[in-house]
Amino acid sequence: MKLWTGRFQKEADPKTNDFNSSISIDSRMAQEDIEGSIAHAEMLGKCGIIAESESEKIVAGLRTIAADLESGALAIDPDAEDIHTFVEQVLTARIGDAGKRLHTARSRNDQVALDVRLYLKKRCAGLKTQLKELLAVLLDLAEKHADAVMPGYTHMQRAQPVTFGHHLMAYAEMVLRDIDRLSDAVRRMDVSPLGSGALAGTTYPLDREMTAELLGLSGVTRNSLDGVADRDFCAEIASACAICMVHLSRLSEELVLWCSWEFKFIELDDAFSTGSSIMPQKKNPDLAELIRGKSGRVFGDVTALLTMMKGLPLAYNKDMQEDKEAVFDAVDTLSLCLTPLVPMLSTMTVLRENMRAAAAKGFINATDCADYLVSAKGVPFRDAYKITGTLVAKCIEKGLTLETLPLSEYQAVCASFDEGVFEAINLEKCVNDRKVQGGPAPENVLAAVKAARAVLETL
Ligand code: ARG
Repeated sequence: MKLWTGRFQKEADPKTNDFNSSISIDSRMAQEDIEGSIAHAEMLGKCGIIAESESEKIVAGLRTIAADLESGALAIDPDAEDIHTFVEQVLTARIGDAGKRLHTARSRNDQVALDVRLYLKKRCAGLKTQLKELLAVLLDLAEKHADAVMPGYTHMQRAQPVTFGHHLMAYAEMVLRDIDRLSDAVRRMDVSPLGSGALAGTTYPLDREMTAELLGLSGVTRNSLDGVADRDFCAEIASACAICMVHLSRLSEELVLWCSWEFKFIELDDAFSTGSSIMPQKKNPDLAELIRGKSGRVFGDVTALLTMMKGLPLAYNKDMQEDKEAVFDAVDTLSLCLTPLVPMLSTMTVLRENMRAAAAKGFINATDCADYLVSAKGVPFRDAYKITGTLVAKCIEKGLTLETLPLSEYQAVCASFDEGVFEAINLEKCVNDRKVQGGPAPENVLAAVKAARAVLETL
């Protein structure tokens, strides 16, 4: 049965119902819809807008619906137009006329704006828990490998020595920002739009603050048009998910590279790898690839939301029904990707000796050689740079490294060189000396892990 009987002389065509219905998407907000209705009914009763006895009946009825949905005793009718209609109809069927008073001073427009907020608030709390787990794994790994020397890259070329712990802590920083971004979006979303009505508020003397308080929300929206027409919170949460997916995707890309034979910096656990149907030797990082692949759909969700909103006049327009599919997909996808990523990281084997061996190739201590000439011998940096470049070319020609090139060859290019250069270009020393704030030295990594753990405690 439609909510709008009275004005209409004909039943809706089934094609209208099918196209218009949102029950397949919004049924997942059933519990939040009921929570919102309970708070609204309690407030209506307390404010004397409906009788206290009716308010109590409504609340009790709604509680039975919530319990029956939870236990499976009540199934959601797929033919209902949306979850709001379904709950109200079941309520009226169960408690009779009192059920018809629930929608006093409310519209589905402010109702849906509330439900989505309540639902997303819960989902964001879940995402935050998952991100904290990811952070904890990154911190454990970083601590364990604080002194594992590996090549740092720019342009995908070996550049300067870093530590694996430092590399992982870069991702820990991203995850910390991701958590902060989600919390920030939730803080702005944490207000009740109930009382905005369809668009123009209501003439009933509602206590909007009371409803918000009953729902554990921190305040109320300030403008009735904005209260029903705002979907910034969907765009913000989807954007926070999208930025987080960029980070997961970059990490996944590195996992894919690192477990290739060309790198062999890590070995994924068999339980988080896949094989090939034809090539018996293969062990594939499918999960990391899928995470990288799924990032695209979350970026699409953000685009869908922004595009859906950009031309809409105030206030509610049916286009906005499309908000849920997009923002739900964003949170679902992020959650789905975090689920295998955390154990995949915690079970992987880190091949430190291969990282160290890769760091010994590619002249990643060339900057340190130039810095030695500057600090120990007073050579201007630009000259030191050129001298070192000449030495690197010489090494390449002879198939040597800066460590194996004889001192006489150094001195042939610049007489200032002495034995001290070999200590200066020692990879461990190169890394240990990079203890500038934010640098990769093992002591910095351990301090960064400690600081991040302290932050994690407060999240
Ligand atoms: N299913 C609708 C949505 O998700 C609920 C609000 C409907 N309001 C309306 N006036 N048709 O947006």
